[in-house]
Parts: sequence; structure tokens; C-alpha cells
Amino acid sequence: MDKKKKEGRYQRMFKQLEELCAKPGTPLSRMATIAAVLHHKMDHFFWTGFYLYENDRLIAGPYQGPVACQELEKHKGVCWAALTGDRTVIVPDVTQFPGHIACDARSRSEISAPVKDKNQHVKAILDIDSAQIEQFDEVDEKYLKDIIKLIY
Ligand code: SME
Repeated sequence: MDKKKKEGRYQRMFKQLEELCAKPGTPLSRMATIAAVLHHKMDHFFWTGFYLYENDRLIAGPYQGPVACQELEKHKGVCWAALTGDRTVIVPDVTQFPGHIACDARSRSEISAPVKDKNQHVKAILDIDSAQIEQFDEVDEKYLKDIIKLIY
């Protein structure tokens, strides 16, 4: 998807999510809403969801797409890299990422970002996979960061 088209979509989704997340709910229900909207509005998102960070474990939270790992092996893969590095990780080609955890062999590229509460504590990791290589860039990073701020 070209950058202009992607930006337009993210801007519309952000508006919609801002309204939906302002309704009564919990962080978990907002994660579910965000996963559903992102997954259904972005055709190239193959798996869209959250891993909850609890007791130093990453456990599957709300998601859309094929069945994924229930828990991610500690200190391995893209989501743990986003958590321990405290940053968004963009992986253009998952075969080139040492330790990548393939919950589904069809995943080819990925973006992962920490979700924080108001005290800046990491509560979850947003993770999105695409079945094609090189699907994520700084446009996704920018808008996804704004979207996950709606959770807490
Ligand atoms: N690929 C991720 C695991 C989660 S699945 O992609 C849904 C990782 O390496 O952490």
C-alpha cells in the first residue's frame, strides 16, 4: 500500500478508534476493539493483536487472525525485543530476524510496539504480522503509537 493511502486509512481509523475507546470499557476491551478495527480495515494485516505482559510473561491477549502461541518463550523473538528494548521493532523479513517466533509459518513481516499505562509501565505488546515481506514502515509506527495510547 502506498504511503499516502496508508496515512489516509490510519487517520480515519484513528478517529473511529478515538470515539470507540472513549465509550465505557476497560484496557482489555479497548485492545479487543483496536485489534478488530485494525485487522478488518487493513487487508494486508494477517495477524493483529496483543500479548499481555504479566508476571514477566507475554501471554496472548485479544487478537484477530489465525491461532497464535498462547505464551511467547522468554527473551526470544520480536515481541520480547520490543519489550526489553522499550521501542517499536519493525521486521521487514522475519527470516532475517534471529530468534523470530513463527506462530504461523505464513507470517513474513512484522511490527511490534510496547503498550504503556499512564505511569509508563509496559502492560502489553501490540504485534502485527503480514503474509508479505516489507509491509511496515515509519507510517505504521507513527499511527500505531497514537492508537495504542488510547488504551490506558
Ligand atoms: N512473531 C512474534 C510472535 C507472535 S506472533 O507473530 C503472533 C515474535 O517473534 O515475538
